[in-house]
Amino acid sequence: MDKNLQQYNIVIVDDEPIVTSNLRTLLRLENYPSPNIFNSPIEALEYIRNNKIDLVISDFFMPNMNGIEFLKEVKHLSPRSTLILLTGYADKENAIKAINEVGLYRYLEKPWDNEDLLLCIKNGLERSDFIAQQELEQLRDDFIATLTHDLRTPLLAAIQTLKFFVDGTLGELTEKQRTFLETMILSNQDMLGLVNALLEVYKYESGQLVLCKDNFVFKDLIDQCSREVDSLLVHKNLKLIINGFSNEKIYGDKQEIKRVIANFLGNAIKHTHQNGEIRILADFNDEDLTVSVEDTGIGIPQNDIPKLFKRFSQGTGTKRSTSTGLGLYLSRQIVEAHGGKVWLESEVNVGSKFKFSIPREKSLIS
Ligand SMILES: Nc1ncnc2c1ncn2[C@@H]1O[C@H](COP(=O)(O)OP(=O)(O)O)[C@@H](O)[C@H]1O
Ligand SMILES: [Mg+2]
Repeated sequence: MDKNLQQYNIVIVDDEPIVTSNLRTLLRLENYPSPNIFNSPIEALEYIRNNKIDLVISDFFMPNMNGIEFLKEVKHLSPRSTLILLTGYADKENAIKAINEVGLYRYLEKPWDNEDLLLCIKNGLERSDFIAQQELEQLRDDFIATLTHDLRTPLLAAIQTLKFFVDGTLGELTEKQRTFLETMILSNQDMLGLVNALLEVYKYESGQLVLCKDNFVFKDLIDQCSREVDSLLVHKNLKLIINGFSNEKIYGDKQEIKRVIANFLGNAIKHTHQNGEIRILADFNDEDLTVSVEDTGIGIPQNDIPKLFKRFSQGTGTKRSTSTGLGLYLSRQIVEAHGGKVWLESEVNVGSKFKFSIPREKSLIS
């Protein structure tokens, strides 16, 4: 059971005090918290109306209200709690009716077997936990869907509008105005990047990522990535060296692996000074492919190295408002989803080597 036993709130209702006190003793012996016992269903309802409960054990024949009427009301007040009915032998039909009408979890005939009852309580509480968990997940899904829409849509719209200004589509701008608007575009894009990264993390953690694997020439992907960072390289006058790739194929999800390379490469560019050098090296053997993205940048203190592939880890060397600390974490998830691993070597003021290897799988056959 997820919860500590003591956190459960169990309610027992039977008009015969001997029954309720027996049950209380039984539960105490099994380390359950003392149940709330009532000899009248009306009083029990009053309690349930004002308290959070997990499980109800109710008698069938009671004055004022029978067990089914009572449990119906409980269901209404506390839909998630587990309902157990204790019946006399002759009440079997009623019990079955209750299963359908009030979503009764189980019924037990009096006199019940203690072992049966305890098992039924244990399973019933697990069921309550499970339902609560499902509801939480549903809430989270709904929240993420809203987040996606409500955060991304206005951001995309703002970026597009700002671009119209910068383009001159909406009239002439002074140089100063243009600079401000360009800065606004960049910060909006950073924010969009953060929102997207959070959504990615969610996708991985909720198991929603399905890899679309195919055979592809790895070098094509590297070329694509390097084209995409070309302007950044030029801007910092960084030299990019690509080595060790020919026409080898690998079997994997191209888009996802591209994300890993793009993350490594983006980080390398970000953390390397002007005029530095970045290398992307490949080592293919029969079993797997190892890729290394190496830079001559600021490097990473040894203490930070084990933390960097963890969620939200930004290292101690650099702090930038645009940093999410999610890129390496996501990269690790992607590589591990391919059955591979990630690691890094680094020396402060010398540079870093971020590496991953993935099995080549079917690529050998084709
Ligand atoms: N090539 C690199 N050189 C130096 N530090 C790096 C490098 N790559 C990553 N780091 C460090 O690892 C941290 C986490 O990187 P990452 O997960 O990509 O998140 P982000 O780039 O958003 O900060 C960075 O904030 C930085 O401190
Ligand atoms: Mg990064």
